[in-house]
Amino acid sequence: MKALPAKEGKHNLTNYEEAVEQFDWNSIEKELSWFKTGKINMAYEAIDRHAENGKANQVALYYSDARRDESYTYQEMKEYSNKAANVLKDIGVTKGDRVFIFMPRSPELYFVLLGAIKLGAIVGPLFEAFMEGAVRDRLEDSGAKVLVTTPSLLERVPFSDLPELKKVLLDDKSYNDQDSFLQLNSRLDDASSELDSIEWVDKEDGLILHYTSGSTGKPKGVLHVHEAMVQHYHTAKVVLDLKDDDIYWCTADPGWVTGTSYGVFGPWLAGVTNVVRGGRFSPTDWYETIQRYDVTVWYSAPTAFRMLMSAGDELVKKYDLSSLRHVLSVGEPLNPEVVRWGVQVFDQRIHDTWWMTETGAQMICNYPAMEIRPGSMGKPIPGVQAAIVDDKGNELPPNRMGNLAIKEGWPSMMRAVWNNEAKYKTYFELNGWYISGDSAYMDEDGYFWFQGRIDDVIMTAGERVGPFEVESKLVEHPAVAEAGVIGKPDPVRGEIIKAFIALREGYEVSDDLKEEIRQFVKNGLAAHAAPREMEFRSSLPKTRSGKIMRRVLKAWELDLPTGDLSTMED
Ligand code: WTA
Repeated sequence: MKALPAKEGKHNLTNYEEAVEQFDWNSIEKELSWFKTGKINMAYEAIDRHAENGKANQVALYYSDARRDESYTYQEMKEYSNKAANVLKDIGVTKGDRVFIFMPRSPELYFVLLGAIKLGAIVGPLFEAFMEGAVRDRLEDSGAKVLVTTPSLLERVPFSDLPELKKVLLDDKSYNDQDSFLQLNSRLDDASSELDSIEWVDKEDGLILHYTSGSTGKPKGVLHVHEAMVQHYHTAKVVLDLKDDDIYWCTADPGWVTGTSYGVFGPWLAGVTNVVRGGRFSPTDWYETIQRYDVTVWYSAPTAFRMLMSAGDELVKKYDLSSLRHVLSVGEPLNPEVVRWGVQVFDQRIHDTWWMTETGAQMICNYPAMEIRPGSMGKPIPGVQAAIVDDKGNELPPNRMGNLAIKEGWPSMMRAVWNNEAKYKTYFELNGWYISGDSAYMDEDGYFWFQGRIDDVIMTAGERVGPFEVESKLVEHPAVAEAGVIGKPDPVRGEIIKAFIALREGYEVSDDLKEEIRQFVKNGLAAHAAPREMEFRSSLPKTRSGKIMRRVLKAWELDLPTGDLSTMED
């Protein structure tokens, strides 16, 4: 597909090359208040600073779902997050404590998240679809002290395994307190909207933990610190192109990094009006949301765009989407096909952005003032140095495929893998390059092109699923002797999860058994982690040390050569 020319208009970043050349992280810091006051706290910078500087009456949050329809100004967000901070303080939350939030999107979720940050606590947002196993892994590993959730999600919290969990706040007006289980809502009502003092932290102090999957082991807790705000703010300006009067909608849930970095921090640091739509994906609902709020900047994901595409162009025509001026995507490769569709139906180029939970913020992106080459992730943000390196950390010339790597030292870089120093170090083993785990190449003009994951991590509907987690769950089922899990290419979801299974003696393949196994994973981990396809074999390819060879499974699936089989057991 042909390149799409730069977009006309007044953008925050007008000349990419010049911006790269003149770039200095210190000058970005200067735009935030802590540069002058020396007092740092993300929640202050995102909310209170605006409430105190002329934006008190500007809407900070439009929230709606099937039952609620509310708006909150920056002043109100300041007051409600103060209330939440007072509620948490009352039950003993102090700096560094882990406060986990496991509930569907609602205004309270955002109040609590900001309130916890005001106390210097480390927040851990969990996606509401997580089932018991996934919830346990995260609360146990992080040593969460407080959990904020709803009564209907309580049954997925295995309290007996969580000795460090001291208090649970329940978001439900009809809930009656029982021991350490306390109603959140009445406490918010009664709490003061003044906070004695925000906990001023060091820029290296912990802010948020996002658990994410790798190809081996349990999900790991990626820790980000308050300094990340420098990059959230910078990218909100130059990539999201946010300006004071923008109405911005990021469709991601705060359980994923996109839903916090760009659903909370970025837009509020930039002082815009942030739209949150609760509930599940539905094309009519989504178009209505854009129309109703006059959304100007919209950040979503390839799977969602593909699903909108398959809902048909006739549907789009029923809505007035003319408020849109800038559209972006993240999470998986953005097909040129989708970019073409965006131009056709919204008259908008969709701007791909590449980054990861670990990088904390956008890294390689397309900018409004730049030509887009459909299929390319774009160029590194000013301030970030990216390259393609070989397995020894040597930079490769243009058009050679290799490891997509970033030079250490960007502000939103993760600062730890929780409880796992050894794992953290593995990311930076090659000459000071952070190794992303993605393979890519760079063309002569500096555009980066995604090629695939180097490890076996599966990307399904934009969500990262570790095959090991799914395999471990599968073998817990009494009928399953061995399991190997791969991502199988899929036109809508990017990849779907396919499981190869060897059954135990005495079990026969049947539709009922398949469904039972699928449900077992769904109920144990999460719906998106359950295999959509299963194939049964009498045994699976393994190394002599007994490791399932996913590479061989993938080759079988895709009809590719299986490569070197010398390590395979006979
Ligand atoms: C993939 C999401 C192609 C990639 C913010 C990366 C992408 C992983 C893109 C991180 C993109 C993300 N094009 N692939 N624009 N953006 N990815 O941690 O494999 O959930 O390593 O972060 O998603 O996923 P995560």
